[in-house]
Amino acid sequence: MILITGANGVVGRQVMNQLAQEGTAVTAVTRGNGEAPLPDGVAAVRGDLFHPEWIEAALEGVEALQISPRAAGPGLGELLRLAAEQGVRRAVLLSATTVEYPAGEARFAAQFEQAEELVMRSGLDWTILRLADFAANALAWAPQIRAGDVVRGAYGRAATSPIHETDIAAVAVRALRGSLRMKAVHTLTGPQSLDQVEKVRLIGAATGRRLSFQELPPEQVRQGMLAQGLPEEIPARLLGSLADYADRPGPTTSTVEDLVGRPALTFADWAHDNAPAFGG
Ligand SMILES: NC(=O)c1ccc[n+]([C@@H]2O[C@H](COP(=O)([O-])OP(=O)(O)OC[C@H]3O[C@@H](n4cnc5c(N)ncnc54)[C@H](OP(=O)(O)O)[C@@H]3O)[C@@H](O)[C@H]2O)c1
Repeated sequence: MILITGANGVVGRQVMNQLAQEGTAVTAVTRGNGEAPLPDGVAAVRGDLFHPEWIEAALEGVEALQISPRAAGPGLGELLRLAAEQGVRRAVLLSATTVEYPAGEARFAAQFEQAEELVMRSGLDWTILRLADFAANALAWAPQIRAGDVVRGAYGRAATSPIHETDIAAVAVRALRGSLRMKAVHTLTGPQSLDQVEKVRLIGAATGRRLSFQELPPEQVRQGMLAQGLPEEIPARLLGSLADYADRPGPTTSTVEDLVGRPALTFADWAHDNAPAFGG
């Protein structure tokens, strides 16, 4: 049995789908707010990992655990302690490239660093996946693209190598099954460095439209996000890292191809797969 935290997240959904397709038993930890049904055959445990006491029973018979630091929050130490006690063998942690390649406010990378330290000291076998910017972050542009041909945002020249969630899941599934070397840190990125101007153009190509990026002052973007009711943390996280990626692009690695044995999927592939979300 494999237990997935953050099951309704971008990565959790993909991992559940891939495991369910191959017939592996999966339990999803969810607070029950997800709108989409879980894949066939996936059992659900309802709970909030910020208060993990309830999870003891759910850990029975679990061989491996996928951990999203965002979903586990301050309950991570307790979750790992219970997992070790219950005989869970492996933990796969979804971390971030910012631990190794600083970008944005240090407090955000520090949260991932703390989670990595807890997993390394847990007594379980572990795999840490340091993830680049998700290609799926571009879904934040969907309302603007459905409404017109211009995406407005800050730091158009900020460049990362965005990773397709299918590739994150392909590596995570191998780690959960125990088919990768244990006690290893892998830095996973997409195959190609792209700035925001290019990403918008590629979504245009996938949807058969001519889309462009219009640069706005960062403070205007921040105020706009706060006016939409987003918590201060969201623009702080986004704008801080974009400012740094405009000066120095995020990393590009070949790790997906090295571990999965096929080329990593491109942002163009992701845009094609997700064209309907942009009205394409
Ligand atoms: N986006 C990026 O570019 C990026 C880059 C590097 C690393 N990461 C990290 O990668 C990990 C995976 O990200 P992801 O986008 O797949 O999704 P995620 O943040 O792992 O999962 C989101 C889900 O977690 C559940 N959840 C449980 N407790 C929560 C809480 N207190 N607050 C918020 N959500 C809670 C929610 O589902 P229920 O409502 O069903 O409980 C939510 O749908 C995250 O830790 C993220 O920080 C992201």
